[in-house]
Amino acid sequence: DKGNHRHFMQKEIYEQPIVVAQTLRSYLQRMEGKVALPIPDFDLSAIRRVTIVACGTSYYAGMVAKYWFEQFARVPVDIDVASEFRYRAPVMEPGGLMIVISQSGETADTLAALRHAKSEGQTIAAVVNVPTSSMAREADLLLPTHAGPEIGVASTKAFSCQLAVLAALAANLAKAKGKLDEAEERDIVRHLAEAPAAINGALAYDESIEAMAGAVAGARDVLYLGRGTDYPLALEGALKLKEISYIHAEGYAAGEMKHGPIALIDEHVPVIVIAPSGPLFEKTVSNMQEVQARGGKVVLISDYDGVAAAGQGCLATITMPKVHPLIAPIVYAVPVQLLAYHVAVAKGTDVDQPRNLAKSVTVE
Ligand code: M6R
Repeated sequence: DKGNHRHFMQKEIYEQPIVVAQTLRSYLQRMEGKVALPIPDFDLSAIRRVTIVACGTSYYAGMVAKYWFEQFARVPVDIDVASEFRYRAPVMEPGGLMIVISQSGETADTLAALRHAKSEGQTIAAVVNVPTSSMAREADLLLPTHAGPEIGVASTKAFSCQLAVLAALAANLAKAKGKLDEAEERDIVRHLAEAPAAINGALAYDESIEAMAGAVAGARDVLYLGRGTDYPLALEGALKLKEISYIHAEGYAAGEMKHGPIALIDEHVPVIVIAPSGPLFEKTVSNMQEVQARGGKVVLISDYDGVAAAGQGCLATITMPKVHPLIAPIVYAVPVQLLAYHVAVAKGTDVDQPRNLAKSVTVE
């Protein structure tokens, strides 16, 4: 049932404040300022290396999580798309944790990667949305997202819930490895607990995003740029747009522009720049200005300070609430989803059932 919404995708975008809160509830003891796992005594202290494997949007959630695992737990992280993992003879030593991320828990390549890693003696954690799925059953550590059924082929609420679980897992691993003191743990819990309200704040800009979607709907190609954890978000934005609006879109690390893709820039190519204010802001803005100097039409997604500092000269700006960098990827997922949604609606494509795609990909 779509309720008041025109499409399941729209409904699912709007469910995010609730389902992220619901998911966080089983990973945070908010009052105590503690992170927790659903299996509280699962011992992570011997984990020396993490391998993340997933497909599509779930893979981009994993790319964001790599930053968190390395930053908080100081544990090295490998990440692969599941369809490539087994073909590079990955080295899997004792003390390895394999994390599979999947909405459906049935994606064939991800499941095959899980089985391969298990046979090599890795501990398997599964971040899945369907608790009865194959991956949920075969994992050693089941980490459910509580997004509820996701009907739209484009993954939205599953993604933000995956990020919430992965942030909590990174904090748990850091704690188990003695890398997190009580004050740091309390801070992480406080920041994560702010995510649902911040997502609500982001949803408040829906109408202004709808109003500028026309400027993107006529394009043949669109680029997305981001740095740090906003780089995977750029990839996610491009995937979302191409999947439901059929506009060719690519995400790049902002600093990679001048190594090739900048040759594509002219006044017909909208460039979506994801740049919350923070330590990486200045660098991303200078990449954005390189684009503008070549006639590129920029849509800047930032907070009030970022838009005030760098918004002039942009085709459009989208203002997000100001949030802690830890939760920025969760919050900035919203404008990226809404933009793809409104562009697709403007183009009249089948938003919930895009051509050639299946919700669950059960062939390799
Ligand atoms: O069920 P999974 O999370 O394993 O699915 C992975 C991808 O097929 C999925 O995220 C796909 O990329 C979505 N259609 C993206 O919106």
